[in-house]
Amino acid sequence: MSNEKKHVYGIDLGTTYSAIAFINEYGKADIIKNSEGNAITASVVYFENASNIIVGETAKEAGRQSKDDAARVVDFVKRQMSNKDYSFEAFGKEYSPVEISSMILKRIVNDAKETAGHDVKDVVITYPAYFGELERTRTRQAGELIGLNVIEILDEPVAAALNYGLEKPDIKGHNIIVYDLGGGTFDVTVIRIGNDPNKDEVTVVCTEGDHQLGGKDWDNRISQYYLDKFEEQTGFDIRSSDPEEIHETIYNLRIIAEKNKKTLTSRESVGQKVAYGGNEAKIELTRRQFDEMTEDLLDRTLILTDKLLETAKEKGVT
Ligand SMILES: Nc1ncnc2c1ncn2[C@@H]1O[C@H](COP(=O)(O)OP(=O)(O)OP(=O)(O)O)[C@@H](O)[C@H]1O
Ligand SMILES: [Mg+2]
Repeated sequence: MSNEKKHVYGIDLGTTYSAIAFINEYGKADIIKNSEGNAITASVVYFENASNIIVGETAKEAGRQSKDDAARVVDFVKRQMSNKDYSFEAFGKEYSPVEISSMILKRIVNDAKETAGHDVKDVVITYPAYFGELERTRTRQAGELIGLNVIEILDEPVAAALNYGLEKPDIKGHNIIVYDLGGGTFDVTVIRIGNDPNKDEVTVVCTEGDHQLGGKDWDNRISQYYLDKFEEQTGFDIRSSDPEEIHETIYNLRIIAEKNKKTLTSRESVGQKVAYGGNEAKIELTRRQFDEMTEDLLDRTLILTDKLLETAKEKGVT
């Protein structure tokens, strides 16, 4: 097709959400929306049957239907990129983290073609600063597996700094901090942006992080709060039931918790009905309560940021 758009595409293959972008004619990064009209696609894969594999929000929702469906949902696969023994089994087939990641890539690449006519071939895929050689190679392989030409793989904080440099050209010659609290991991990095006006020169000075700290932990606090309040209001502790039986309820609570957490960005309070075993509780959560119950998590990110700044100082970067 002659009207197909060709660029080099940047793909953020995230733990919880992924996205694809290109540099438009004004020199700015343009995110291509997926077929649901969203800028980000949930990095979740659902095996509906042996031949129908679904990626995105629908996959995330599918797990809510039943325990059986939930067992066919893979999420947080990026955390397994370093795990040589990990594989996910569905309908008698084993899938490696590379294969699962490639399914996520395939969805966003296909969507870019369907929704905006972008013929995605040449790509740059980003990876977290803490990824070692194995995980980086595997990230590249995930792209190659679906026929993409992976021209480069790039450090996520470097990619963020490059984009920031595009938005703010006067940042040349400065040092910046990239604070990245993702769905499953936290990273904070000091980056030096070179002086040369004709070159995009960015170097990582130092990096810190906690790979077991992310938005998921904030969600968990809300889920726990709902379970506590449910017990307080109904006298019944859902957690005391058979884990098999409450699987669906717990899965639902996780999704609801994330939704309500996002709602609290704009609203000051959010209401939620929680029902189980014929009991129902109406639970209110205010932004203030949420901030209080997660303060220690935020503090952990600030402690790591202070530590990072100390290291940067030792390296003569302030
Ligand atoms: N409005 C919002 N308020 C609070 N949290 C939000 C909001 N929007 C998104 N999040 C949270 O941000 C997290 C996802 O962030 P992001 O997309 O940067 O992560 P990721 O790229 O998937 O992960 P990683 O960078 O660790 O691979 C999720 O936990 C999500 O719930
Ligand atoms: Mg990310």
